Amino acid sequence: MGKKILITGGTGYIGSHTAVELIHQGYEVIIVDDLSNSEQHTIESIGKITGKKPEFHQFDLRDFPSLAALFNENKFDGIIHFAAKKAVGESVANPMLYYDVNLNSMLNLLKLMELYNVSNLVFSSSCTVYGQPSQLPVTEDTPFSLAESPYGHTKQIGEDILHQTTRTNRQLQALSLRYFNPVGAHPSALIGELPVGVPANLVPFITQTAAGLRATLKVYGNDYDTPDGTAIRDYIHVVDLAKAHVRAIERMLNHEQKKSYEYFNIGTGKGSSVLEVIQAFEKINQIKVPYEVVDRRAGDIVKIYADTTRANHELNWKAQLNLDDMMKSAWKWQKTLIT
Ligand SMILES: NC(=O)c1ccc[n+]([C@@H]2O[C@H](COP(=O)([O-])OP(=O)(O)OC[C@H]3O[C@@H](n4cnc5c(N)ncnc54)[C@H](O)[C@@H]3O)[C@@H](O)[C@H]2O)c1
Repeated sequence: MGKKILITGGTGYIGSHTAVELIHQGYEVIIVDDLSNSEQHTIESIGKITGKKPEFHQFDLRDFPSLAALFNENKFDGIIHFAAKKAVGESVANPMLYYDVNLNSMLNLLKLMELYNVSNLVFSSSCTVYGQPSQLPVTEDTPFSLAESPYGHTKQIGEDILHQTTRTNRQLQALSLRYFNPVGAHPSALIGELPVGVPANLVPFITQTAAGLRATLKVYGNDYDTPDGTAIRDYIHVVDLAKAHVRAIERMLNHEQKKSYEYFNIGTGKGSSVLEVIQAFEKINQIKVPYEVVDRRAGDIVKIYADTTRANHELNWKAQLNLDDMMKSAWKWQKTLIT
C-alpha cells in the first residue's frame, strides 16, 4: 500500500486533478469534501482515469467530530488542503463566511494534526497574497501587500498561521503553493472546472461564449499599460499544477525541506494578455469568440506573472504544458458540459 494522503476539497477543480496524479504515482488517496462547490460523480471520474476509486467522505471541515473520527481511523502521511471558498466577489459581499470557512477549516486540521502526530501539510495559496505587485516577475520574497479582498486575506492569514505554528510545533512541516492562474482540464475531459454563475475568470468565460452559452465575451479594459492594452496573467495548466503538489508531498516525505515552512510560486513564468489568450483559443480550436471591450473592472490587477526559479530548482518542478494545451483541453471539457 502506498503512502496515505488526505485531500481536502478533493472533488473540486484542482483537488480532483491532484488526486489523479497522486494515484498515478502509487499514493493512497482519501478525499473529504462537503460538495458545496463540486459533485460526487467526480469520484467515479477519478476512478475511471486511474483505475482506482478513492475513498470519499462528505462533510464540512468545520465539523470537528467528523474530522476527528477520520484522523482516528487513519494514519495520514500527508495532507493537501484545497477545501476553501474561493469567489473574490462573494467574499467582499460576505466576508465573515470566508473567514469562518477558510480559517476554521484550517484550524481544525492543524489541531488534529498535532493531536495525531501528522507532520506534512501542503496548502493552496495564491498569487493574490502579493496584491498589486510593484516589481515583475514576482518572486517569493515580494512582501504581502494589503489584501484586495477578504478571500485574499484568508490566504495571507492561512500562510501566517502555518509560518507561526511550524515554528512552535517542531514535528509539523508545511508548504504553501502560490498558484498563479490555473486553467484547462485533464486531457481525458472526464474532470475539469465546474462553472457556477457568470464566470469571473477569463477562460471559462471564453469557453462558454464559444459554446454559445453567452452572447459576447467581455474584455475589461484595453487601455492598460501593457503591449496590447489588456491585462496580463500567468496561466498555468491544471495538470502541471497538480504535479507540483505531488512534488511538494514527495519533498516533505523525503525530508528534503530546508525549513519547516516553505512557499513556492507555481506558474509558467510567462505572462499572456487577454487578447493573446483569446487568439490562442480561436487558433487551436478553430472557433471564433465574439468579444467586446468594456470598462476596466474595479480591483483588477494590471499585470502579474511569476518568477518560478525557486520551484524549478528547489521543488524540481517546471510547467511542461503551454497556452495551446490549456486552450485545447479547456474547450474539450466545455464540450462535455454542453452535451
Ligand atoms: N482556481 C483558482 O483560480 C485558484 C487560484 C489560487 C488558489 N486557489 C485555491 O485552491 C483551492 C482549490 O481551488 P479550486 O479552484 O479547486 O476550487 P473548488 O471550489 O473547485 O474546490 C474546492 C473544494 O472544496 C470544497 N469545500 C469548500 N469548503 C469546504 C468545507 N468547509 N469543507 C469541506 N469541503 C469544502 C468544495 O466543495 C470544493 O469541492 C482553494 O483553496 C482555492 O482558494 C484556486
